Amino acid sequence: MKRNFLMGAAALASLATLSACGGGNNAQAPAATETEAAAPVETPAAADTPAAAAADGAKLEYASFTGDAAAGEKVFAACRTCHVFDEGVNRVGPSLHKVVGRSAGSVAGFSYSDANKNSGITWTPQVLFEYLKDPKAYVPGTKMAFPGVKDDQKRADLVAYLEAQSK
Ligand code: HEC
Repeated sequence: MKRNFLMGAAALASLATLSACGGGNNAQAPAATETEAAAPVETPAAADTPAAAAADGAKLEYASFTGDAAAGEKVFAACRTCHVFDEGVNRVGPSLHKVVGRSAGSVAGFSYSDANKNSGITWTPQVLFEYLKDPKAYVPGTKMAFPGVKDDQKRADLVAYLEAQSK
């Protein structure tokens, strides 16, 4: 899977510095498919790692992007057929009222899949950033019929918009 390492390199480098006290700064280079010279800064040792995150190796940090909420509103057009932000208003998907910080499967009156309901996920910005890339990979068995937003910057914009809506 191709990632843009250069974009977040500076931010990740400072993260790696900050987390060096976490013990054993095991900055092992990711798989040999990565050719960018900046690769080693890509694995800050003590970054928080949600269980389902690093399925394909080192993970991409939402914090290394600058999400543009206004641009994210346009990306959200893809979600609007199934989701609104109004509290208690469930469509095909559950209300996304204050979704950032919420526990998965917690909207009253919505009939969730067991996969989502029992996932134990908290919808932090980082988790949303990973989930929305490929929902069915992140929550196998989910009934959210949406392929995901593959473009990393667009997905960061979308998450910034979700954050703004959750304030
Ligand atoms: C085709 C309809 C559909 C589309 C399009 C869709 N979703 Fe969903 N979404 C669902 C359904 C259905 C669920 C419930 C999943 C389950 O129970 O397995 C869900 C669940 C979710 C959840 C988990 C909510 C919770 O309470 O646990 C989030 C977050 C979410 N969607 C965000 C989005 C975003 C953001 C988009 C646009 C990028 C989007 N969805 C597009 C139908 C959709």
